[in-house]
Parts: sequence; C-alpha cells; structure tokens
Amino acid sequence: MNIKSYDEMIRERRLMLKSEEEEGIEHDEWTPHQIKGIPPPPLEKPYPKDSVLVELASPDCADLGKIPLVKTIVQRRSRRKYSSKALKLEELSFLLYATQRVTQVDEDRVRSKRVVPSGGARHPFETYLIVNRVENLEPGVYRYLAIEHKLLVVDRIGLFSDEISRACFGQSFIGESAVVFVWAAIPYRTEWRYSNLAYKSILIEAGHICQNLYLACEAIGAGTCAIAAYDQKALDSLIGVDGIDEFTVYLAPVGKIEPISARAVAENVQIMPISKEYIESFHNCLDSIARDRRYLGPVKAPSLESTRESVLSNILKNIPQYVAVEDDIVVGWCEILPNEVEGFTHSGKLESMGVSHAYRGKGIGRKLMESTILAAKEFGIERVELLVYKSNTPAIRFYEKAGFVHEGLKKKARKLDGKYDDVLLMALFISQT
Ligand SMILES: Cc1cc2nc3c(=O)[nH]c(=O)nc-3n(C[C@H](O)[C@H](O)[C@H](O)COP(=O)(O)O)c2cc1C
Repeated sequence: MNIKSYDEMIRERRLMLKSEEEEGIEHDEWTPHQIKGIPPPPLEKPYPKDSVLVELASPDCADLGKIPLVKTIVQRRSRRKYSSKALKLEELSFLLYATQRVTQVDEDRVRSKRVVPSGGARHPFETYLIVNRVENLEPGVYRYLAIEHKLLVVDRIGLFSDEISRACFGQSFIGESAVVFVWAAIPYRTEWRYSNLAYKSILIEAGHICQNLYLACEAIGAGTCAIAAYDQKALDSLIGVDGIDEFTVYLAPVGKIEPISARAVAENVQIMPISKEYIESFHNCLDSIARDRRYLGPVKAPSLESTRESVLSNILKNIPQYVAVEDDIVVGWCEILPNEVEGFTHSGKLESMGVSHAYRGKGIGRKLMESTILAAKEFGIERVELLVYKSNTPAIRFYEKAGFVHEGLKKKARKLDGKYDDVLLMALFISQT
C-alpha cells in the first residue's frame, strides 16, 4: 500500500487554497459540467409546494440598521454573551436579508445575485436557522428561502439549544443565543462551473456571508460569533441535510446584547507605562486618530520605525508616557515631554493624547491623564502646557476638568481642508509638595 507522507498530505490539502490544477491529473477529468453542456443545478434547494412558509419583513419597512456603517465596522467583535431578550421577527428578517437575500435572478435561471458576492454568481449556500428565542416564531429548525425571502419550516419544531451546544463540542453560549445561523454548502452549484477549483471559492464566500452578519448584528444591538468548531455529523443531522451533497460549513449564534456599561469597559482597560511590546499597537492607535484629521496636529502617524525610536528613547529616559490597553491592544495614550532647555526644565508639554472612538466617554482619558500627570510630578515637572484646537470643545472641557487653565489663543493657527482653526494654549500647575 502506498502510504502518503505528512508533507504529501499537507501539499494536497493546501492545493485547495490555490487557483491551480492538481499535477498529474488529466485536465479532461476536471472539465466543468457547464462546459460539458450539463444543465445547471437549481439556484435554491427545492421544497414541496405545500410546505408551511413564514412571511418575513422587508428591511426598509422596519426602523432598523440606522447606525452609521463606520460604527458597525469599528465596533464589530465576536460576542458570546447574549441577553435573555428574544429577537424580533423583523430583526431576524433583516439579518437574513443582509446575509443571503437574492436580489436578482437571470431570466434563464442559471445565475442569481445576492447581497454578497459569489464566484461566477453561483451562490452555493443554504441558510438554516435553529430558533431558540424569536418573537412570533416557534423554536425549531427552519430554512431561509433566499429567493422568496420567506422561512420554510424544516419539520423539526422544538427547542434544540442543548443539542446545538453539544454539536459544537460543548460551547454553551451557542445554545444560549436567540437563534443560530447554520450555513450549509451545496458544493455542486459551484463545482458545476469551477469543478475542482470550486472549494476555495465556497469557503471565501462563507466569510463574506458571516461578515455581513457581524455588521448587521452590530447595527441592531445584537451580536454574533463565527463558529467553525463543530461536529460535522451532529450538525448535519440537526439541520436535516445528507452530509454528502449538502453539509454544514460554518455557523454563527445571534442574540441581543446588553449595552456594556462605561464602567465595565473601563474596568477591562488597563492603564500602564508604555513598554516595548505595545509600540506597534500604539502606532496603530495614533495613526487611526491622526487620520480623523480633527484632534491631533499631524494627519497621520510618523513611520513605525520613527515611532519605535521615539518610544524607546522615552522608555530609556523614563519620560511620562502611558497607554490604555485592552486585550493587548492599545486603545489610548497620553504623553508629557519634559522641556530639556535650561530655565524651562520645570515644565513639560502634553505632547499628545488620544482615545480610540469606541472607548471614549468611559473615563479612560481621565485615568490616562491622572497616571501621566502623577508620573510627570515624579519627574519634577511643575507646569504642563498643551495646545488644543479651539473647535475641539469636548477636549477643552476635559482639560478644564483636569485643572488646566486658558493661557492664550493663536488665531487661524491651522488651515486644513480649506478651514481655519484657532489653537488654544492651556496649562496646569502641579504642586510638588
Ligand atoms: C473561521 C473562524 C472560526 C471560528 N470559530 C470559533 C469557534 O468555534 N468558537 C469561538 O468561540 N469563536 C470562534 N471564532 C471567533 C474567533 O475566536 C474570533 O474572531 C477571534 O478571537 C477574534 O476576535 P474578534 O472577532 O472579536 O475580533 C472563529 C472565527 C473564525 C473567523
């Protein structure tokens, strides 16, 4: 028997990620069925005409998803804690629409368009729902009819929360969700056109669908988490597919999210002096805020190398520079640069400070400022100066609260994108006693 080596097996598996033919296989064997003139498979899995269907709402008749796209992108997280609140049917309709709704069917019914892209417009996925807690929907297994925008009852009414968690190796938060989206591929839809090159495309497309679910969830105060750790046979049997011509590829539980209190966020964020391992993350944070073109002087961060150089020098000289860190990611910083010129060494400049969008208004800026000022005091600094754009009223209010006083105004100091802005000079006096 010819036993393959580990390297051979790995090479074979990796081929699936590439866009090239397997070596040594006659090309003819892989001629796509489309080229052979075999008729295409249906655009959607057929169902008996007398099936029970559930009507779904159109997304434009519901007051949903009004939060700016940029916010959904910035806030997106894998969420594993769901509230006990049920999902509204119109919210579920929106999530189904946002992930797989068919928006156009070609006259010859060979291709269709959905809200997500698909190689060759093949759209190989069916969406199954394991419903636990959705208003006006009995718990059970359903299938989304992406052409009709309706739900099909898949002959399995009942609560399957324990079963779904077990099928996902005991990930209990999945069973605690309001509904689980299960995406099953019908590979032949894509194989018909791309033959052995279909699999890469199918997996990429699962990612498109799930990302839309993430963003759509953020837009309606819900949360989701991509899941690829599941027992294939158990999942396929739960949704009632054969596991050969149709099988589960990806799933995602969805539930409403209790808004996290400012306090809980702040508790999760640690304030610490900057250290080497946070240089890159600090650079990213600085760059994203600079690119807002509003709060900082520069409109982009200096190069990573130059940031690294200046931070390492700050660390060496014990210069007060603090970062706010959550899950190893820098979400804010504050830095006071001591004046080294003789006669001015009692003063320092609050060179820059910033807090990422999603972390503002949660007391993180205040904590950063307090730690950095304390470090400045230990450094012997008595007077901290700063410059702030006059248009940045929240920042001015913030500095006033921290004890900074107004010292002067540079009129029309900045002209950016055709607009002038004044620059305010502020200072804080630190008692050294
Ligand atoms: C392909 C894929 C499979 C995943 N499988 C699981 C899973 O089985 N269980 C889980 O809790 N999270 C799973 N996740 C979520 C990741 O853990 C999560 O995306 C990662 O920790 C980054 O966190 P973020 O999504 O909040 O940025 C998966 C994510 C992807 C993209």
